[in-house]
Amino acid sequence: MLERLAPQVKTQETQSLGSDDCEIGFALSDEKEHVMLSRPTRCICIRILEFAALVLFSSLFLAWLALSSTRTTGAPFPAASPLSVDVDHLWAQYSPYFPVAKYKPLPRGCKVSQVNIIQRHGSRFPTLGAGVAIQVSLARLLRARNFTDPRLAFLANYTYELGQDDLVALGASESFSAGALQFERYRDIVRHGNLPFVRASSSKRVVESATNWTAGFASASNEMFKPKVSLILLEYLNDTLTNKMCPNAGNANEQTHHWQSIFARPIVHRLNQAAPGANLVDIDIPYLMSLCPFETVAKRTKSHFCDLFTQQEFEAFEYYGDLNKFYGFGYGQTLGRVQGVGYVNELLARLTGKPVQDHTQTNRTLDSSPVTFPLNRSIYVDFSHDNTMVAIYAALGLFQQPKHLDPAHPDPDRTWMVSRMVPFSGRMVTEKVQCSGKTDQFVRILVNDAVEPLEFCGGKHGLCELDAFVQSQGYARSDGAGDFEKCFA
Ligand SMILES: *[C@@H]1O[C@H](CO)[C@@H](O)[C@H](O)[C@H]1NC(C)=O
Ligand SMILES: *[C@@H]1O[C@H](CO)[C@@H](O)[C@H](O)[C@H]1NC(C)=O
Ligand SMILES: *[C@@H]1O[C@H](CO)[C@@H](O)[C@H](O)[C@H]1NC(C)=O
Ligand SMILES: *[C@@H]1O[C@H](CO)[C@@H](O)[C@H](O)[C@H]1NC(C)=O
Ligand SMILES: *[C@@H]1O[C@H](CO)[C@@H](O)[C@H](O)[C@H]1NC(C)=O
Ligand SMILES: *[C@@H]1O[C@H](CO)[C@@H](O)[C@H](O)[C@H]1NC(C)=O
Repeated sequence: MLERLAPQVKTQETQSLGSDDCEIGFALSDEKEHVMLSRPTRCICIRILEFAALVLFSSLFLAWLALSSTRTTGAPFPAASPLSVDVDHLWAQYSPYFPVAKYKPLPRGCKVSQVNIIQRHGSRFPTLGAGVAIQVSLARLLRARNFTDPRLAFLANYTYELGQDDLVALGASESFSAGALQFERYRDIVRHGNLPFVRASSSKRVVESATNWTAGFASASNEMFKPKVSLILLEYLNDTLTNKMCPNAGNANEQTHHWQSIFARPIVHRLNQAAPGANLVDIDIPYLMSLCPFETVAKRTKSHFCDLFTQQEFEAFEYYGDLNKFYGFGYGQTLGRVQGVGYVNELLARLTGKPVQDHTQTNRTLDSSPVTFPLNRSIYVDFSHDNTMVAIYAALGLFQQPKHLDPAHPDPDRTWMVSRMVPFSGRMVTEKVQCSGKTDQFVRILVNDAVEPLEFCGGKHGLCELDAFVQSQGYARSDGAGDFEKCFA
């Protein structure tokens, strides 16, 4: 009945670079879809012109290649090894889903009475902007006259075949599996007449992830319980599941450029020696490295690009993503966490069963109706993007760091690792908990199955009293302590 309450908009889904500049914006500000006709536009144009020139160049080059017989080195290609767990968990926000810990049952006598899930869409192709940037870097690599390292031999006959923006098959199955898992885990609070209330932000890949989740949930229940996507929130309007409402928010370019100039330099040197004539530059490195995750999730077999880089280099790639999110939407961005306040206020409303109190990103019309924002369900599921979820974590107070991440020196003990926070299909689950013999209710939060300590509300084994949890959310309850106004002022 409620399905497609709002029309789904596909034509608006052009990728943009949001507030990031041409270099970093393409690859790592991957979740924004509105074209903002401001500073970035010039950069997009330059990058696209460069792309066109390189496409022309590479067509000529490939024509030459077809006629040339001296190109292939003929060196044996190293046998493809299975994906190393270590490396596949170092792909920052391009990591396929993995649980960070084993789900911990609640203490004896306690049970879940309500569940709130917010989940990122599943694995996907590069966004438009990232795809263009990747192909620019690739064309540069393919300018090489020959390859002196056998690991590059595959490039002699290489075609870029990735699609754009959409989920890949693995992405659909990640969401399906999540729906099945969550039915199994929370089946005790599922009833006919009390099915999960499911919302999705309007990007096609987000809506499809929501649909795949409902299919997994239904399948695990032997089609007994068939939730529907109840509401789609349009991304160009008030929407707590996306991050487009804070035009003044800054970006992470300064920090990511700094780190790039440190970690990419030796890789540039090595690849330029192995591919004489390519003349790669620092910015090409994160794009070329991102082909490892993108091709791997798309083809479900390890990409040749993964073999071009070491484990230490993927650790540096992870840190590049960590800095990007920390200074883009996390604690390092003055107007980062305010973009998570709307969702947190909706979460508080559901946990306390009281109407939403929010003056930020919420749609007050939708949130004040029991049809579009019911308060009497047991399971709420929202589908969103990585940047938005990072802002929500920071608004809540999760993943606090002793100090801001250093753009030159990664702390190996940091807990801010985006592969563990927002991998594809990453999820935060807020459980409301009732324990026998106690009148108080409790809250527990899991991110990718790891129990968060909730030290900010006195968490014991990750459990806070509901009242203490609500008290701890002063930043959200004050609509971001003046920060929301700064988004526009
Ligand atoms: C690759 O190119 C360099 C520079 O043109 C040349 O010295 C070298 O012999 C070439 N190697 C092969 C295997 O063709
Ligand atoms: C190049 O790749 C295409 C398609 O991927 C394949 O059909 C062709 O045989 C390859 N050519 C060589 C020389 O490996
Ligand atoms: C929630 O309340 C609505 C009326 O506002 C009612 O129609 C619906 O059945 C209730 N659902 C549950 C699970 O109690
Ligand atoms: C995921 O959703 C898409 C689009 O709704 C559908 O075509 C596909 O079959 C689904 N896959 C799974 C595994 O549910
Ligand atoms: C709020 O949601 C309603 C219903 O979908 C929609 O008509 C309206 O345009 C939305 N307003 C804003 C500002 O998001
Ligand atoms: C949308 O959000 C803006 C900014 O908080 C607010 O002024 C406006 O009233 C909201 N519109 C609706 C329909 O909630």
